[in-house]
Amino acid sequence: MPKKNLYIETYGCQMNEYDSDRITAALDAVVTDDPKRADVIIVNTCAIRDKADQKAFSSLGKYKHIKAKNPDVIVGVAGCVAQLYGDSMLKRMPHLDFVLGPRAIPKLPEIISDIERKKIRTVETSYDIEELFDVEPYHKAGEVTGFVSVQQGCNKRCTYCIVPYVRGDEVNRALEDIITETENLVNKGVREITFIGQTVNSWKQKGYKFGDLLRAAGDIEDLERIRFTTSYPRDITKRMIDAMKDVPQICPHIHLPVQSGSNDVLSKMNRTYSREWFVDTVNRLRDEIADFAISTDIIVGFPGETDKDFEETMTLLEEIRFESAFSFIYSPRPGTPAAEISGDECVEKEVASTRLAQLQQRQSDITFENNNNRVGTIEEVLVEGPSKKNENFVTGRTTQNRITNFMGPQALIGSVVKVKITEGLQNSIRGELVV
Ligand code: SAH
Ligand code: F3S
Repeated sequence: MPKKNLYIETYGCQMNEYDSDRITAALDAVVTDDPKRADVIIVNTCAIRDKADQKAFSSLGKYKHIKAKNPDVIVGVAGCVAQLYGDSMLKRMPHLDFVLGPRAIPKLPEIISDIERKKIRTVETSYDIEELFDVEPYHKAGEVTGFVSVQQGCNKRCTYCIVPYVRGDEVNRALEDIITETENLVNKGVREITFIGQTVNSWKQKGYKFGDLLRAAGDIEDLERIRFTTSYPRDITKRMIDAMKDVPQICPHIHLPVQSGSNDVLSKMNRTYSREWFVDTVNRLRDEIADFAISTDIIVGFPGETDKDFEETMTLLEEIRFESAFSFIYSPRPGTPAAEISGDECVEKEVASTRLAQLQQRQSDITFENNNNRVGTIEEVLVEGPSKKNENFVTGRTTQNRITNFMGPQALIGSVVKVKITEGLQNSIRGELVV
């Protein structure tokens, strides 16, 4: 049978990007960037905030006409929105053939062949724990970085977050399987891997802890760099910090969502740490690991957030000086405890927008200042590809995860080179190749 043409649109986090590559591999498909030429069209969706959720429906709506012209094309929805709304999506969108939850990807080939043979519409939101991590992602030739999933789901219960409801409880993948998948990627030319999980550093399996996994990855030959995301603050352990100190391939960077600088808000969010504890933990990481970088996530406008609470988030920015921060306006999600709160407790939309703008402005200045502080240093950069703007330039990232552009031949792609930093910009830095 000839391979199928797959058009896949991906929204959301790295886990979704990874899952889209697994979908491609599961179908053994050829990826096309033209939906009109596709045999199968899939939108892999994100439900984290209301906007992302709406986006899923509007994206799917675009394929109604293609389906009307060509009834043989199979149109499906995957990801967290699929899990959240299940079969109501089939009712709402008559051109949809299937709804596939994020844990059901290994079942996809069978679903597609059933649709082809029996012309039935399918909803699959259940899963088989034995096959949860089956199907390794499709790897695009020439890519020097890659993701490896070490965990699915989440055992925390932050009161605003829908992830545990759509991706289920935490399930950790076997150490041997993680290492084998990483080795396979390295054999295909990957030089940097990022272990991914919702609370990646809570990974544990058969007596092994996250620090042991990092050390095992450090033994893989020709793997130049190890990263991981997203870390949960309270799951940082001595074993993890020691591994980061001892294994030179582990990059000195952590993505550590803080969410708020106010203890009242942190407690209402059920984040299980205080502002003071978070600051102490950051100080400990900075003391123990040389030249350490920290990025974060912040939510503004959580129910009950007062001006004073928000001010505390602003002072936390000054106290920590994150390298970068992703920040969002709180969005109530169906089924979460925080979504039950209504009335006066809720922060008005305009107030939340003003707070977000203020926070983003301050963080963007701090990021710019931090980038400028790198000028004059010599950094190791893994070259990932040609620069988008200038064909004589290549692009990569420093160990601290700063995007770095510099003049150099494409032959450098895949190698780690030394670059002297000459200029700090808003979202990246520039430098010169040191030879
Ligand atoms: N552990 C996860 C976190 C998932 S969500 C990970 O792998 O990244 C990513 C970020 O989205 C969170 O850190 C939080 O800052 C934000 N977020 C989650 N739920 C939200 C909501 N209901 N409203 C606004 N932002 C939210
Ligand atoms: Fe969500 Fe909190 Fe887990 S933000 S993914 S419930 S750690």
